[in-house]
Amino acid sequence: MSQARRSPHDLYETETTDHQTETETILLKHLPHNPDLPSPLQKDAHLQFLIRNLIQGFPSRYISEDASQPWLLYWTLQSFSVMGVALDPNNKQKAIDTIMAWQHPDGGFGGGPGQAAHLLPTYAAVCALAIVGRPSPGGGWDQIDRRKMYEFFLSVKQSDGAFLVAHHAEVDVRGTYCLLVTAHLLIRLTPELLEGVPPFIMSCQTYKGGFSLHLSHISPLNQKVLQPYLILLVPLSVQKPSLQQPSLNFKTLLRWLVQMQGLAIELGGFKGRTNKLVDGCYSWWIGGCFALLSSLGIVEEEAWGDIDDSLWDRAALQRYILCAGQHPAGGLRDKPPKPADLYHTLYCLAGLSSAQHNVFLSSTRQDAIVRSWKTPPESMHEQLHQACFTHSLSWTPSRGSAH
Ligand code: FPP
Ligand code: ZN
Repeated sequence: MSQARRSPHDLYETETTDHQTETETILLKHLPHNPDLPSPLQKDAHLQFLIRNLIQGFPSRYISEDASQPWLLYWTLQSFSVMGVALDPNNKQKAIDTIMAWQHPDGGFGGGPGQAAHLLPTYAAVCALAIVGRPSPGGGWDQIDRRKMYEFFLSVKQSDGAFLVAHHAEVDVRGTYCLLVTAHLLIRLTPELLEGVPPFIMSCQTYKGGFSLHLSHISPLNQKVLQPYLILLVPLSVQKPSLQQPSLNFKTLLRWLVQMQGLAIELGGFKGRTNKLVDGCYSWWIGGCFALLSSLGIVEEEAWGDIDDSLWDRAALQRYILCAGQHPAGGLRDKPPKPADLYHTLYCLAGLSSAQHNVFLSSTRQDAIVRSWKTPPESMHEQLHQACFTHSLSWTPSRGSAH
């Protein structure tokens, strides 16, 4: 294919350029003969892959994932959900009981039974319960100790609006995301918890437009090890006015997101960092951001008109996922020739969905949900409850948006 040119480089060969060349060579072999007709989604094979993992358990190479048990279950359940498949009551109950065994007596969920509470598995466990749980005895949802969970959240909160991911652990901006989603689902997004959080997130935006942790949260030990590299960035942080007066720069964020999409020779997959390799999971981590920015009015249809597709190439992302992301034996993957895994199965499927649908926050739906409320909310907590639910339930695909 004429447009599938090798990505340019300066002939100075490094491990990075070698990996890029190898990846392009492999991906070239997965280019469809007719780029407008990529392979279909092998839904049955992917469902079999998920069922195999759920019923038979995981192969022994998963032993290193012992502290990520909620994630493995969440990826499985959410993958079923994305494919429109619900579990039978028996398997749902097994999942609920398994999840509840991860709840820590002092609040939050750990990565397995008896493990310390941590924001990341807490998110995975609560999201998994949101799929299989129910609000009745034994249904999991009401067995979440919300008061203790909230105390756990407060106990990891830092004075600058950051959160430790666990007691005595590090700050990670992914932890903030996990905490916010969980608190949203459990109606615990209080002003007390949110104090300082938006400025902290804003201060994590880098000069490139994306987000990363900044110097104030590198531990003294790491600071010493990383100093030669980080010192190069210090002038940038000092000069960056947003560190004094934080605000989000949506323009650079949008530009960074768009630039993460690979070239034709990379089949239009997304990468997670500049000069790194395309990988199926970023189909969601990056591809899923456009709908969010759009809901904030950043990627406005009116502003971009019919050139919306030129912002990011939805057809190309579908090509990457369908032609390179699908493992022939079922399940989806980072890239060929890697094996399929649950993490990539979920985020490739979710990314495929975001490439095939336009979703927006429907005000009609929002109004309908508010009208369906039995008693008008009075207390601040009830108002928050309503606001959280109407907001999350009013995401709607625009008609005929599937390509
Ligand atoms: C691989 O690192 C990176 C991952 C496996 C994690 C990517 C996921 C996120 C950034 C989002 C996580 C969000 C939550 C809520 C947990 P690498 O250095 O091998 O990747 P690279 O080479 O693609 O940069
Ligand atoms: Zn990946």
